[in-house]
Order: sequence, then structure tokens, then C-alpha cells
Amino acid sequence: MNYQNPQIAETAELLLHRLSELPVKSDIFKAAELKALYDQLRTLPPEAKSAFGQEVNALRGALQAIVDEAQATEDALPPLDVTAPFAPNLKPSEQPQLLPSECGSIHPLTTEITTILDIFYRMGFEAVESREIDDEHHMFNTLNFPEGHPARDDYDTFTTTQTDASGQPYIAPAHTSTMQHRILTQHAPRLEQGIPIACVIPGRVFRNEDLDATHEHTFYQLEGIYVAKGVHAGMLMATLQTFLSTYFGQANLKTKTQPFYFPFTEPSFEFAIERPQILRKDDSAEQQWLELVGCGMIHPNVLRHAGIDPQVYTGFAWGFGIERLVMMKYGIEDIRHFEAAKLDFLRQFA
Ligand code: DAH
Repeated sequence: MNYQNPQIAETAELLLHRLSELPVKSDIFKAAELKALYDQLRTLPPEAKSAFGQEVNALRGALQAIVDEAQATEDALPPLDVTAPFAPNLKPSEQPQLLPSECGSIHPLTTEITTILDIFYRMGFEAVESREIDDEHHMFNTLNFPEGHPARDDYDTFTTTQTDASGQPYIAPAHTSTMQHRILTQHAPRLEQGIPIACVIPGRVFRNEDLDATHEHTFYQLEGIYVAKGVHAGMLMATLQTFLSTYFGQANLKTKTQPFYFPFTEPSFEFAIERPQILRKDDSAEQQWLELVGCGMIHPNVLRHAGIDPQVYTGFAWGFGIERLVMMKYGIEDIRHFEAAKLDFLRQFA
């Protein structure tokens, strides 16, 4: 179409080009350039109005025709079922047979997480799931990692190229501790009513690891936090001891603690259990213990950051890798089995 008015001709060219790239074609009618032409029409003297108006309407009509045609093409496509486990556009006769659902089974990690949570429910904890994308604030700042502190390097994880409001990339969390600040802040008002904060947080975490039989880039952790008045490290030990002996079904499970460092706990410990004989490579002293849990008394700065007075309330926290526990329980020798989708492995737990 040839427009006499050079301004309309220019706008037409621009809008037609933009329309070809718009995912939702009808959005073209919201274009400021189109509105500007109509605004201008209103200000023209009567003798100029008619010619200008006809051309603007012609342009609108041309755009409408393209939008209608695109819509018709889209309507003609068979609907796409994004949940279908096979090629949705095949004819029914060409569809592959669906596997009967009884061939599937619950993933061993799902079963074990349910068992683990059940033990903690019975001990009075509630569960909150962690998230799979988080930010610098929850990964480091609220957990008492000073900016530029080398302890940040211990958690080498994945970040997005997209950034948040403060210009920092989003983070695939390297531990479930990212949830501590949220839970402490949210539940702080309970403390004044004399109700302790008692939460466990299962979740998937991500690390930039060199992969081997005991290291995966994606794995599960279980975080725990308990805050009330008069909480001390003995309660932490008793909680972990009770949980682990229940989970492994061994009343006399031998455990020990050794000092460690985490920025978000003071003091910090590693909690180790006696390594079962079948998982020992030799009889050396270092094969005797297996460090399973990082833990400690929540650092006063972490409590303070969440608006909890550390002079009044104290708490403990821990975090452990769920696969490690499950591997110990069943004598699984390689952590990579869990994410490998190998039926031979999975069927043993069906
Ligand atoms: N987030 C730590 C890690 O992944 C584990 C941990 C240590 C969690 C001490 C805690 C804690 O809550 O208090 O290495």
C-alpha cells in the first residue's frame, strides 16, 4: 500500500516491521506511534482531516488483516499438550504406547525424605521446602558472611546472568541454610508467645563440584533450626543423636563432635558417626568416623539480623546431605546413581 502522507508511510513501515517480530500480534494496536497519528488527526483543520483520516484508517486496517491472519493460522494448529509424555502432534494411530503406571515407582530419595521428615515431625519439628533459586542476600549476607570473606569461596555454586534489583546475579543455592533468615524472621513473633521455632528444611542444592563417587553437582540437604529461651549445645547433640539412631535403627549408635568453622554458627561443630564396618576401607583410625552433619549454635548476628534478641533467645542449627545418609543406610557406593535414572538401580527400591 502506498501512503501519500510521508509521516503515515514512515509509521506504516516501522509498524509492519515491528509486527513481524511481535509474539502477540494484537499488541501492535498499543503502539505509541499509532496513537500519535490518531492524536494528530484530532488537531488537523477540517480540510486536511479527511485525507489524513482515510490513510490512518487504511493503515489500521492493514495491520488488522495481518493480525487476523496470524490468529487464523494459530487456530488451525492442533492444541499442544505440554504435559504429554510423547509427541503431541502425532495422529492417535501413530502415538507410542504409554507405559502402564504400575511400572513406575517412587524414587528412593523421595521415600527417604518422607521417612526423615516423619522422624522430625514426631520430635515436634515442622517442614518447609527450600527454593531452587535464591539471592546473594540469603546465601551470604544474612548468614554473617562478610562481603569479600574467603568463606564465601567454600560455596562455589551457579549464578544466573540475570540480576536482581541490587545488580547481583541470582544464585542456585549451595546449601539449605539460605532459608534460615526467612524462617527466623517469619516465626520470630512466636517466640514472644513462648513457642519455639522448630523447623526442618529439605531441599535441592547445587555446587560446582568435580564429580566422583561422593560428589554430585546436584544433591539434597536437610537443614534444621531450633530457637527458644535457654537452648544449649547439649540439646543439639541430643536432637541429632536421637534422629540418627532412629533413622539407622541403632539404639547404640556411636557419635562424636569435633570443632569446625561456619560463619553462621558459634561455636560450630562437625557431627560424626562411627562408620559401619562394611563401609570401611581399612582399619585405620581415620576410617573409624564419618562426618555427616555440619552444625552449631546460631550466631548472634544471624539472630539479630532476623530481629531476634540473642541476649534472650538462643538456638541451634544443622545441615546434612541426604544422599550421604541414604548411601550409608543401604550401602550405596556411588552418589551419581541417584540422578542417573538407571532402572537397575531404581528397581531395587520399588
Ligand atoms: N550449610 C552448611 C553446608 O552446607 C551446613 C550447616 C552447617 C548448616 C552448620 C547449618 C549449620 O545450619 O548450623 O556446608
